[in-house]
Amino acid sequence: MNKPLLLILFLCCTISQSIAANSISKGQSIKDGETIISNGKKFELGFFSPLNSTRNRYVGIWYHNIPGPTVVWIANRETPVTDLSGVFKIGEDGNLLVLNGQSKEPLWSSNTSSLPLNTTAVLRDDGNFVLCAGSDELGSNCRSLWQSFDEPTDTYLPGMRIGRNRRTGEREQILTSWKTERDPSKGGFRLGFDETGLAQIVTWNQSRRYWRSGLWNNQVFVGVPNMRSALLTYGFSLSNDGNYFSYRAYSGSEIMIFKIRWDGKVVELRWNDGKQNWDSSFSLPSNECDVYNKCGAYASCSNFSMMPRCECVRGYEPRFRERWEVGNWSGGCVRKVALQCESNGGERDGFVERDGVKLPDFSSFTAVRSRDECEASCLKNCSCKAYAHGNGLGCLTWNSDLVDMEDFRGGEFKLYIRVANSELDKNKKSSKNAIIIAVVLGIFLLISSGYLLWRFLGKDKGLCKRGDREELVGDVSRSRDFGGVEFSGQHDKGDDEERDAAPDLPMYSFQTIATATDNFSLANKLGQGGFGPVYKGKFPCGTEIAVKRLSRQSGQGLEEFENEVKLIARLQHRNLVRLLGCCIQGEEKMLIYEYLPNKSLDYFIFDPNNQLRLDWEKRFNVIEGIARGLLYLHRDSRLRVIHRDLKASNILLDEEMNPKISDFGMAKIFGGNQNQANTNRLVGTYGYMAPEYAMEGLFSVKSDVYSFGVLLLEIISGKRNTHYRDQDHRSIIGYAWNLWHEERAVDFVDPFISNSSCPMTEVLRCLHIALLCVQDSTIERPTMASVVLMLASEAATLPMPREPTFTVGSSVGMDLFIETSEVMSNNDATVTVVVGR
Ligand SMILES: *[C@@H]1O[C@H](CO)[C@@H](O)[C@H](O)[C@H]1NC(C)=O
Ligand SMILES: *[C@@H]1O[C@H](CO)[C@@H](O)[C@H](O)[C@H]1NC(C)=O
Ligand SMILES: *[C@@H]1O[C@H](CO)[C@@H](O)[C@H](O)[C@H]1NC(C)=O
Ligand SMILES: *[C@@H]1O[C@H](CO)[C@@H](O)[C@H](O)[C@H]1NC(C)=O
Ligand SMILES: *[C@@H]1O[C@H](CO)[C@@H](O)[C@H](O)[C@H]1NC(C)=O
Ligand SMILES: *[C@@H]1O[C@H](CO)[C@@H](O)[C@H](O)[C@H]1NC(C)=O
Ligand SMILES: *[C@@H]1O[C@H](CO)[C@@H](O)[C@H](O)[C@H]1NC(C)=O
Repeated sequence: MNKPLLLILFLCCTISQSIAANSISKGQSIKDGETIISNGKKFELGFFSPLNSTRNRYVGIWYHNIPGPTVVWIANRETPVTDLSGVFKIGEDGNLLVLNGQSKEPLWSSNTSSLPLNTTAVLRDDGNFVLCAGSDELGSNCRSLWQSFDEPTDTYLPGMRIGRNRRTGEREQILTSWKTERDPSKGGFRLGFDETGLAQIVTWNQSRRYWRSGLWNNQVFVGVPNMRSALLTYGFSLSNDGNYFSYRAYSGSEIMIFKIRWDGKVVELRWNDGKQNWDSSFSLPSNECDVYNKCGAYASCSNFSMMPRCECVRGYEPRFRERWEVGNWSGGCVRKVALQCESNGGERDGFVERDGVKLPDFSSFTAVRSRDECEASCLKNCSCKAYAHGNGLGCLTWNSDLVDMEDFRGGEFKLYIRVANSELDKNKKSSKNAIIIAVVLGIFLLISSGYLLWRFLGKDKGLCKRGDREELVGDVSRSRDFGGVEFSGQHDKGDDEERDAAPDLPMYSFQTIATATDNFSLANKLGQGGFGPVYKGKFPCGTEIAVKRLSRQSGQGLEEFENEVKLIARLQHRNLVRLLGCCIQGEEKMLIYEYLPNKSLDYFIFDPNNQLRLDWEKRFNVIEGIARGLLYLHRDSRLRVIHRDLKASNILLDEEMNPKISDFGMAKIFGGNQNQANTNRLVGTYGYMAPEYAMEGLFSVKSDVYSFGVLLLEIISGKRNTHYRDQDHRSIIGYAWNLWHEERAVDFVDPFISNSSCPMTEVLRCLHIALLCVQDSTIERPTMASVVLMLASEAATLPMPREPTFTVGSSVGMDLFIETSEVMSNNDATVTVVVGR
């Protein structure tokens, strides 16, 4: 009669005692009913029962503040305690043990050998339960002897690694589903890293593949159609050694997990605090076509009709036609005509292109650079069935049957399937011939005209050759070590034009430049930027150049300057202005750029007369170009350049209105080259400056993202940020937010655009992205990589922006030294702020 009461009292006491703790050490134990809670009150560890099962008790970890409980890890999933007598403790040998009251034999053990005698187990705020040596360092940084993240159950938490066995004997991180909704013991479905080849995630039903993500191309899993939008919020990454994947949530406060559910689906769960439930944006496989190899070999599954349908790829036919026609697709397809390499006769085999398809499984990586080389390497070997190239994947070839293909509408991946010559499209072939003839003819003309030119300009040739630094051939692009193979990351649809093997930067004499610019005459002055005046010049051979004469206080030695400039000269991208050379003589330092005849972006978007030349299509092209250029500066180039003074007048346009970012690398030349740094010299332009940069001098790639967001608002609205003040004296950002928030976003758009027949959804998506870029908190701003993806993907669900409260007006309490740009742009000023420290 008294016993239950006593028990309750006892529980109360122990619970209140244990709430303070986030760890147990030797001699302490957690009894059924007691829990420990991580320091930040995120996770809780103790005994629980799955829903509707009162008997079985398991030791698990769940979210402290989320009702349910939502269990993310279980110790004794195969061996429950069948009454309330369970105890979780550290045993004599230092291992974690689950015991039931009666027997002394543990039901579960962390089973790690040769532990020190004194161990402590800490529940951390990321949900990891870590066994540490010693007893006092309950801290976050102890060396882990064992950790729950290494033995995951069915839940993939941010920070956890899903990987492959690096050495035998090492734990393999694989998730295993529950058996049923209520039974946490190991079920039939597993999720893990593909062991057979390149990096991808696979789920298995027993031992058979059930679904796969497609390869990781350093940005997305190419076999997940909505990954483009998913990526915006999950920072997935592959470790440098290519052995495991991990991810992080969009922000620290967001609670997001992946699970392999008992029914085999991979689900993403996101806690919705307002509704107090879990939202799920996808579960994979999401339809029958996603299921592994639904159609058999050489057939692709299409979910775009009412029913899933299988179709043989070009040049193939069903193996068993009758069965195929009644929907039994398991036989797959076979080649209609034997290949030349198999039959030793006829014309050379060719390839047919297949657009928008989930690339088949079991590819191999070949270390060649161009698509032609990739094709040639496939043609060479008769066992090669297909190849694909690009999109960050390099050259992939398939030497076994093509399995698990699925139609992706609007997919960006092209598969080239090998077929006999007779299956090729004859028109294509003749047009190919025509192309070859044209190319040969073109080369001939080029060579002969080049020869004439050379004859004509004979005496000047040294200078001009320097002036027109030739385009280098070949595409030596980034390569990275990828799990042992050389993984050539030729990516971003060929945007990456970095050339590693750039020759030495041409150096010009002061005299040459002075002559070219007519002694820096006022007539030749193009403008004045934050780092000095810019002049137009012309070499004797006719090459036009832009010369930037740097102001003197760069604070760098000559050698340092030269090195920095050489590095920056290697940054080559179609959306960056090209640096052609430099000139150093005494105090004088000058940079020589290609000259762009069209003016800068501000000339077109803010002037009602010139606006007409920049319709929405062109503007969108400009936006995308700037984003790619910035992405290249931030991530793809080896230098990780932060621009720090991105604005409309620093975007130049070429004849076809392609944007080119100018003045990049200046911040680097003028000191400060860390990724995020605190600088004592602010360079930037009011209105474009991120709050943390303007106030604290902190700059990072995210401060460029902020400037990009402001620029985007200007391009959309056709209004200058500095000139924009509504009745409430709000900045362009506040104004944009208000209209967007009141669902009147259309009013924000430049009337010239909104009155034209442009795709309004695209305009509004750009506005949405702009608002994300100008978030107060750097964490909530996307990276340029995400921005590029958001721009490219129409289906993306974008995160909701918060109200940007912070805008830097001209009332910042600092000593300002303002240099006004005079000619290039007479409306905004680059400020150089020297912060006293
Ligand atoms: C648990 O049992 C209740 C009542 O029997 C039932 O309504 C509920 O659906 C069950 N929950 C689960 C997860 O089976
Ligand atoms: C503990 O590990 C050893 C090998 O390290 C293994 O043989 C044994 O089966 C494991 N015991 C349990 C209960 O997992
Ligand atoms: C274990 O830790 C306790 C508490 O810090 C300490 O008193 C004891 O000496 C340690 N024992 C060993 C064997 O290190
Ligand atoms: C998993 O495999 C089993 C046996 O191989 C099969 O009966 C079951 O239908 C499969 N489950 C799914 C969801 O395909
Ligand atoms: C794809 O399949 C799913 C489930 O079978 C279905 O709900 C969806 O409508 C299909 N998609 C299309 C575009 O038909
Ligand atoms: C489909 O065809 C395979 C042989 O290719 C056969 O074994 C299987 O029973 C067929 N399935 C159905 C549902 O008819
Ligand atoms: C063709 O490729 C297969 C599979 O990769 C390989 O085993 C074979 O050696 C290759 N043959 C030639 C001639 O390169």
